[in-house]
Amino acid sequence: MVTGGAGFIGSHVARRLTRRYPNVKVIVFDSLTYAGNIGNLTDIDGQTNYRFVHGDITDGAAVENTIREYGVDCIVNLAAESHVDRSITDPLIFARTNVLGTLTLLHTACMVWGDDTGGKLFYHISTDEVFGSLGFGDGPFNEETRYAPRSPYSASKASSDHFVRAFGETYGLPVIISNCSNNYGPYQFPEKLIPLVINNIRNEQPIPVYGTGENVRDWLFVEDHAAAIDLIIHRGRPGETYNIGGGCELNNLQLVKKLINLTDRILGRPEGASDGLVTFVRDRSGHDLRYAIDHTKITSELGWRPSTGLDEGLAKTVDWYMENTGWLESVTSGRYREYYDRQYGNKLT
Ligand code: NAD
Ligand code: TYD
Repeated sequence: MVTGGAGFIGSHVARRLTRRYPNVKVIVFDSLTYAGNIGNLTDIDGQTNYRFVHGDITDGAAVENTIREYGVDCIVNLAAESHVDRSITDPLIFARTNVLGTLTLLHTACMVWGDDTGGKLFYHISTDEVFGSLGFGDGPFNEETRYAPRSPYSASKASSDHFVRAFGETYGLPVIISNCSNNYGPYQFPEKLIPLVINNIRNEQPIPVYGTGENVRDWLFVEDHAAAIDLIIHRGRPGETYNIGGGCELNNLQLVKKLINLTDRILGRPEGASDGLVTFVRDRSGHDLRYAIDHTKITSELGWRPSTGLDEGLAKTVDWYMENTGWLESVTSGRYREYYDRQYGNKLT
């Protein structure tokens, strides 16, 4: 059961699992918030081992019915409110979904699985943002780094991680957590930096860069994250946490420049044509300066490493958004909500 499977990362995970394991039923459980779009999953619609369940992780009865109906033995929890800027303007929904939702999933899994936890797994997808902010001279986060969240988003993710660990210790639930760095790639909602920049270049709109543009993120191509999640589902050790990262640090201004070059080239514009769109705007409040991940543990224990370099991944990403302008337009106009109505015959509220 992949919660949040209609979102950005979840859709890549659901697609990968459905295709690679035809004998395993993959249940996408998603409440379809603004960030959920079953149009992200159209290419696996016809697969007989894929099911979509429209449900909310804070709804214990819906979670319980789904676990029982499909005999769920593995929950991969990606359902979340995921955007830092929204968490600053509307923190309560982050506590509701990320904390109470995860707790509801944990509680329900414990209740349904009882002592019969053999072969069961509760796998929680978290973020490197729970570790707080690094200075330029600091070493990267590893699995021993102390939690020090600084935004309402990262505080809610840290809280959910603590509940997951507590359920492992207290009730013997087989749990794993992975903490990943910033993802990018196809199907990312264009409120996040990379798709927002590509879309704004395409539409010749200002590119908002917060503060001075010196903040650093460690970027990972989303399919590499999905591969790591697949590996952890099958070979991860319950009770463990794994850090996942691209090993690829870049500041926001450097990243924006790369995106301008790639996008202008595809659009046939002269080099640097969109440089003038860069607009420095008021900084995000509490903006974390730098994230960087040490992924030695998952590499040495499970053999995972990122396989897509940043330049290759960015080129694939820009290509995808340029080839799928219909997706971008349906998401930015809100028309993507109608896909569900057509497919399932009732209106999304
Ligand atoms: P997203 O915002 O694109 O997707 C979230 C999905 O969760 C959506 O489909 C939404 O409809 C669903 N959802 C939200 N509330 C729900 C609820 N109450 N019940 C059921 N479904 C609900 O997020 P994403 O970027 O794909 O991130 C997925 C997970 O990975 C999150 O837990 C996030 O914290 C974590 N993560 C993200 C990144 C990143 O760079 N995007 C990095 C590390 C970790
Ligand atoms: P974002 O994609 O929101 O991810 P996160 O905040 O989870 O790291 O932002 C990535 C970086 O880009 C972050 O340092 C904030 C910055 N940013 C901008 O400069 N402008 C923008 O319009 C957005 C959305 C983000």
